[in-house]
Amino acid sequence: MTQHNRAIFQPSGQIQFGIFFQGVNSGTIWKAPESGSQTDFESFRRIVQTAERGKFAAFFLGEGLRLREHLGRPHALDVVGRPDAQTMLAALAAVTTNIGLVATQNTTYNDPADLAHRLSSLDLISGGRAAWNVVTTDNAWTGANFRRGGYLDHADRYKHAEAFVETAKRIWDSWETSAGPARRVLHEGRHYTVDVSPRLPRSAQYRPVLFQAGDSPEGRNFAARQADVIFSAHPKFDDAVEFRRDIVARSVDAGRGANAVQIMPASEFILAATDREAQEKKAWVRSLQIGPQQAIAYLEQFWGRELTEYDSDGPLPEIDPVVEETSETRGSGFHGAKARQLADQWRAEAKDKGLSIRQFVTSRTARVDATFTGSYTAVADHLAQFARVGAVDGFNISPWLIPTGLDDIVNHLVPELQERGVYPTEYRGTTLRENLGLETPVRSNEPVQV
Ligand SMILES: Cc1cc2nc3c(=O)[nH]c(=O)nc-3n(C[C@H](O)[C@H](O)[C@H](O)COP(=O)(O)O)c2cc1C
Repeated sequence: MTQHNRAIFQPSGQIQFGIFFQGVNSGTIWKAPESGSQTDFESFRRIVQTAERGKFAAFFLGEGLRLREHLGRPHALDVVGRPDAQTMLAALAAVTTNIGLVATQNTTYNDPADLAHRLSSLDLISGGRAAWNVVTTDNAWTGANFRRGGYLDHADRYKHAEAFVETAKRIWDSWETSAGPARRVLHEGRHYTVDVSPRLPRSAQYRPVLFQAGDSPEGRNFAARQADVIFSAHPKFDDAVEFRRDIVARSVDAGRGANAVQIMPASEFILAATDREAQEKKAWVRSLQIGPQQAIAYLEQFWGRELTEYDSDGPLPEIDPVVEETSETRGSGFHGAKARQLADQWRAEAKDKGLSIRQFVTSRTARVDATFTGSYTAVADHLAQFARVGAVDGFNISPWLIPTGLDDIVNHLVPELQERGVYPTEYRGTTLRENLGLETPVRSNEPVQV
């Protein structure tokens, strides 16, 4: 390929699916009769095997290093906990053959040499199916669990993350090859000091695939330089096209090809035989996701105070939020929300649309933009459009029910997509890198001592 061509994005015309198993959040319904358990291996085994039947590229596990809190107490509606991702994925490697196994691991509280070794282990055990979803965690709330408080501020965390990933890549690069012997990796930097020799050989896919999740300009530049795939938050068509344009520009600027970084947005699917049935199903799903208590708790996260005396079927509270209480992230994802301004905005919007607290919160929850609702054929047509223009490389699906939440997708949507020629009918290879169509990394010639 010429230099010129490498700078021009070429849509693959295909989409792939990943599953994002969410151990926390109101998005997964744990109280329906058919719900499984969020910690029993059986829930994980059943859903990963369904995904593999549907030729899903990857199975993702998120990570949270502290249980969420609510008004200073453990968040009773959300305290479910998550087993360690790498431990769970190692077990899942034994009951699957082709699906990729993606462990979310943060760069703030791990050690690069240790994590590189553990990920290499998962990669070898699984026959080259491991991936690392690189996340950064800088909130004081998580840091307190490690006796570090808010030890890394926002401006520093991607520098820290980049040094971490560079170090891990050097370790994966340093195993002996026909071109040269194993190399000792010496790294002395502001954030890490490492003096280590690789302890494991390369896997069938050279090294774990790198995913990145984080949406700031710094996060996007970091992904453009380092990642193979972005786990994005932009699933709506126009937004996805714009995000692709942005990432292509950043990867070309970073000296990589326009197609170097793939994109898989977070998404949710509510499907049925007809559009109407799908809409009815959506109302049912939402009623279970956001019950009266969840609706009040959601507002309390922003208001920073108890609102239990409010009726979830009534209007939003007139009382003002406690700003100081809501300005620190508590694991809820509302970091830096300007609470008072937001409250005014929300009250006006709810009043304008005549929405109760529960209706408002239901309409507001993050997945609204990320949900594809409709008949199998309508949604398949819509997704084919994404594939045609190359808006995304795939979708990372959070099922609202575990372990049966992918059944509809695998039994009905996948065949529709396959008929349209936009979804794989077989796994291309045995490694995740092959299945995603990623290039094998070239061994870096950079000095191992930096
Ligand atoms: C789709 C998506 C999924 C994420 N999943 C996790 C996760 O499982 N665990 C975690 O600690 N952070 C997760 N993050 C948080 C990011 O790693 C990052 O800390 C956060 O987005 C703030 O960085 P930013 O300002 O670059 O967006 C996720 C972010 C996104 C966009």
